[in-house]
Amino acid sequence: MRNISLLSFLLLLLPLLVSCTERQVYIVYFGEHSGDKTLQEIHDTHHSFLLSVKSTEEEAKLSLLYSYKNSINGFAALLTPDEAAKLSERDEVVSVFPSHANKWSLQTTRSWEFVGLEEGTVDWEHKNKRGSLLHEAKYGQDIVVGLLDSGIWPESKSFSDEGMGPIPKSWKGICQTGDDFNSSHCNRVMDPLQKPCRIRSNKVSPGLPLWVSAFLAKASNMTPHNSNTILKLIGARYYLKGYEAHYGTLNTTNEYRSPRDHDGHGTHTSSTVGGRRVSNVSALGGFASGTAKGGAPLVRLAMYKVCWPIPGKIAAAGNTCTNADMLAAIDDAIGDGVDVLSISIGTTETLPYAKDGIAIGALHAAKRNIVVACSAGNSGPAPSTASNLAPWIITVGASSVDRIFSSPVVLGSGMIVKGQTVTPYKLKKKMYPLVYAGNVVVPGTAKTYIAGQCLPGSLSPKAVKGKIVLCLRGNGTRVGKGMEVKRAGGAAMILGNSQMNGAEISVDAHVLPGTAVVSGDATTILNYINFTNKPTATIVPARTVLQAQPAPFMAAFSSTGPNPLEPNVLKPDITAPGLNILAAWSEASSATKLPDDHRIVKYNIVSGTSMSCPHVAAAAALIKAIHPRWSSAAVKSALMTTAGLKNNMDKPLTDAAGNNANPFNFGSGHFQPTEAVDPGLVYDASYTDYLLFLCSSRVQNLDPSFKCPNVSPSPSNLNSPSLAISKLNGTMTVNRTVTNVGGSKSLYSVTITPPLGFSVKISPMVLFFKGVGEKKSFTVTVKAEEEMMSRRGMKEEYVFGWYTWTDSIHTVRSPMAVSSA
Ligand SMILES: *[C@@H]1O[C@H](CO)[C@@H](O)[C@H](O)[C@H]1NC(C)=O
Ligand SMILES: *[C@@H]1O[C@H](CO)[C@@H](O)[C@H](O)[C@H]1NC(C)=O
Ligand SMILES: *[C@@H]1O[C@H](CO)[C@@H](O)[C@H](O)[C@H]1NC(C)=O
Ligand SMILES: *[C@@H]1O[C@H](CO)[C@@H](O)[C@H](O)[C@H]1NC(C)=O
Ligand SMILES: *[C@@H]1O[C@H](CO)[C@@H](O)[C@H](O)[C@H]1NC(C)=O
Ligand SMILES: *[C@@H]1O[C@H](CO)[C@@H](O)[C@H](O)[C@H]1NC(C)=O
Ligand SMILES: *[C@@H]1O[C@H](CO)[C@@H](O)[C@H](O)[C@H]1NC(C)=O
Repeated sequence: MRNISLLSFLLLLLPLLVSCTERQVYIVYFGEHSGDKTLQEIHDTHHSFLLSVKSTEEEAKLSLLYSYKNSINGFAALLTPDEAAKLSERDEVVSVFPSHANKWSLQTTRSWEFVGLEEGTVDWEHKNKRGSLLHEAKYGQDIVVGLLDSGIWPESKSFSDEGMGPIPKSWKGICQTGDDFNSSHCNRVMDPLQKPCRIRSNKVSPGLPLWVSAFLAKASNMTPHNSNTILKLIGARYYLKGYEAHYGTLNTTNEYRSPRDHDGHGTHTSSTVGGRRVSNVSALGGFASGTAKGGAPLVRLAMYKVCWPIPGKIAAAGNTCTNADMLAAIDDAIGDGVDVLSISIGTTETLPYAKDGIAIGALHAAKRNIVVACSAGNSGPAPSTASNLAPWIITVGASSVDRIFSSPVVLGSGMIVKGQTVTPYKLKKKMYPLVYAGNVVVPGTAKTYIAGQCLPGSLSPKAVKGKIVLCLRGNGTRVGKGMEVKRAGGAAMILGNSQMNGAEISVDAHVLPGTAVVSGDATTILNYINFTNKPTATIVPARTVLQAQPAPFMAAFSSTGPNPLEPNVLKPDITAPGLNILAAWSEASSATKLPDDHRIVKYNIVSGTSMSCPHVAAAAALIKAIHPRWSSAAVKSALMTTAGLKNNMDKPLTDAAGNNANPFNFGSGHFQPTEAVDPGLVYDASYTDYLLFLCSSRVQNLDPSFKCPNVSPSPSNLNSPSLAISKLNGTMTVNRTVTNVGGSKSLYSVTITPPLGFSVKISPMVLFFKGVGEKKSFTVTVKAEEEMMSRRGMKEEYVFGWYTWTDSIHTVRSPMAVSSA
């Protein structure tokens, strides 16, 4: 609701902002570099394009922010809408789009929760059936994962490089110095033969002649490294030009003009991907302790800081990232030689591929076999909310883990209601008077549903003092509701889920004793209060419970399909842990990021698809370590076709309310890294396949060097490990090709679970492979059953099914989502 009012406010402003002379940053995009141009030639070409719409050489020079040089052919520049329109008419130009219009931000949950902690959440070893994945993948050593995020806190123990080998030889990344960030914050040099992490002063401007830049870079190579530092970070850069063109100079009061993380988000995602095993981590006066570790503990990390605070807003209220900065970061990451990119950034807008900086950057990455994992977004459970929709991206939803922080409520009636919390504060062992917030508001407040939400200033200290207050979720932050109860003198808070939140509880380090209950239990407590003379309660201090059931289930906030951009591509692709995830944190901001909270923590518990994305990036890194030559599509396919569909009660995955979830929630299922290493078959796709897909997908071609055929195949025909057909009229046949990556001489047969009301035929139904690397094609024919269609009243509703190839060892499963015309 808050978001909606903010949105309408911005929409009102928009016509004012976009006047014809007002300059803003646009990206002018040409496709792929041909590869035969020098840096100077690239720069000159971009400059001459700019000059064609600017009146002077000087103006063109000053308006150019970035000239993307490694793979992405394009530039970012300050243009008026007229100038942008003129450039977009040029034949060579694929698209011209604004850098800032899309409200890109990091994808933690809307409310800003957190803290506390216990046993590492990222605990894959206990799930490791084959036992040897991490070992076989050498824990990800020699693989570089790049992250686009809010920076990194390099001193965290999670980033220790103790016992790690030399930096991969192909690495070309740099350590960019800045506020509180110098050469010793990137990987130390262990012997003189090893390639050092080069230092670039942020004062070297791209306007300098190349030989000067080269000289400065060489000179800075000689900067002595602090040999005592132990870090695994081998690259760190930051990107501010797009941000500063929109917001003005960065306010460095609460932010670093360097790769250092002030927010905490980037440190969290980085350590989820590749944090070392750190035992006995603890927070908030030792409230809890346990082991934290990343998915690929020996992987190398490279941070590309692109997200920054929104001026005039508190950090907890979000951040902003621009297309211009993100494209610069992805272009550099490609040039530096990352193997995997983890991007926990999204927007609530649905952007065409040609105007989406992440989609464009990821296509260039995919061309070089770089796997790109992105968050699906936190706008669920409403339908059609997923972001990062390009088929060359792995789009990750969020689900729970099997660990809860049990802190039940005991009511005066003797009834015990389940609750969860990581608050460091405890109640005395006695009963307290219990009130519902809606009944104890300051005089004059209407006693509506909103009154029960403990919004700032709403509670009457007289009526609340010394009592436990039941507050409901809805508007406002969860931690903020606790602050209000504390302000009014309450003893503790019970935070009740709304119906929409269902059974999903994001735990919080509240500022007072408190616990959180699911929506059904909130009603139970409310009932008890309403029908009891003197209601009382107490809260039992938190205890960590492992192997909680059911787990996983889908987080209610996880964004869902159908795909709002191209309904013939199924999104999200997969789900991974994103609820109450423990990982490292920045020591520059507090656990909750709220201004009144001064509790510094080294580890923090956070929720969001931001947290699930790096889990999948880590899994991709392990697969890359074992199969270095696999394409980005092959890695994605391996992860998807081996994903699980059952929870730890051997029942189908559910949503937070307990209903069966479907592929629009979890894509192909819950990731299982140990299975993904040996998928048997993969659905591969090349850069050309993606361009062919773009020809058919009602969108612009992204590469002018590619000629679309006269008749393009259906977008459903892209060789994807999932199948979506929107508005099927009668019958449709699509082609799929699988590549054998399992044993030689293997025989696969297919089983089909058709979507309700459709028949599905696969031909042939048996595939025999003589050798590894061999490809076999088959067709899938989906037909609407007329009888069922008329019974359903021709409703345009999606139904789901599966087809699964199996030999005696492997299971290669694909989800189907079909709707009829
Ligand atoms: C880098 O900064 C640290 C303090 O954060 C300092 O101890 C160290 O000497 C600096 N190293 C270099 C090479 O400037
Ligand atoms: C920078 O941020 C600080 C802290 O939020 C604020 O007090 C100050 O006014 C800001 N400075 C400018 C120039 O906006
Ligand atoms: C864990 O840390 C706490 C305090 O941070 C300390 O008291 C305790 O001895 C440590 N435990 C182990 C096993 O190291
Ligand atoms: C949040 O506040 C707005 C404006 O006061 C109100 O219209 C809306 O119903 C509230 N939402 C919830 C979930 O209480
Ligand atoms: C309890 O009473 C409150 C008002 O005091 C009302 O809003 C709520 O619907 C009642 N709930 C139940 C479960 O009786
Ligand atoms: C479905 O196909 C039939 C014939 O193939 C055609 O007459 C009809 O208009 C189509 N319906 C839609 C909704 O496209
Ligand atoms: C599937 O592939 C076959 C052989 O390559 C081709 O003849 C056919 O047209 C394709 N069908 C579709 C629907 O693309």
